Amino acid sequence: MRKRIAIKLSGSLFGMEDTKRLKQFAEFFVRISKICQPIIIAGGGTIARHYISHARSSGADESTLDELGIEVSRLNARLLIFALQEKAYPHPPTNLKEVAHAADSGLIVVTGGLHPGQSTNATAALIAEKVRAYAFLNATDVDGVYDSDPKKHKNAKKFKKIPIKKLRSMLVHQDSIAGGYDLMDIVALKVIERSKIKTQILKADVKTLEKAIKGSPEGTEITLT
Ligand code: UTP
Repeated sequence: MRKRIAIKLSGSLFGMEDTKRLKQFAEFFVRISKICQPIIIAGGGTIARHYISHARSSGADESTLDELGIEVSRLNARLLIFALQEKAYPHPPTNLKEVAHAADSGLIVVTGGLHPGQSTNATAALIAEKVRAYAFLNATDVDGVYDSDPKKHKNAKKFKKIPIKKLRSMLVHQDSIAGGYDLMDIVALKVIERSKIKTQILKADVKTLEKAIKGSPEGTEITLT
């Protein structure tokens, strides 16, 4: 059996501006699937945030808003499934049991969110655990973890490695509302820690992902000590 790798793909990849980018990712996943089995988790992106803020302004409760985010991430997953054609399991699994079953097909699996109250990052960590992935790559719109927000601070410093405890203390002050989960959430960190999952946070581009899959240290690695 090929080794499995769990890859969270930032929702920003599924925007309306750039349909070519998703096709490049699909070609890459097909190519890389000769050496490992990608299990991909699609994020919700700006479209999810749009729906969430719209429904919040109409008074919807937070778990319903999370469900809206999950639905959009599943639509994003389906976009990638279409691009992967017969190389992909034909629909996004909706719970961990289904993910395991889909992974047993040997095809590339693409899923969206699974449970309210968490982000697709937590879902991706749970999926990495469930399918016994050898690594979890969190491919996002920044190229790693910084000591302050690189979009706001020019001198922000990137960590090559960050101890899980330090990352947790940085995340404690983060919002836990629908659409507001950030790079990682506490649930994701708990799962990574308990199952000692090799995890990297890195830029969502094909070259960076390829290097990471082949063992190069890209972005920021989360260390367990
Ligand atoms: P994300 O916030 O995880 O998507 O999911 P994203 O756009 O990829 O995030 P980035 O790229 O890390 O910025 C969208 C929303 O869907 C709900 C949450 O409300 C989340 O903010 N969601 C997603 C869940 O409730 N459960 C899940 O398992 C996944």
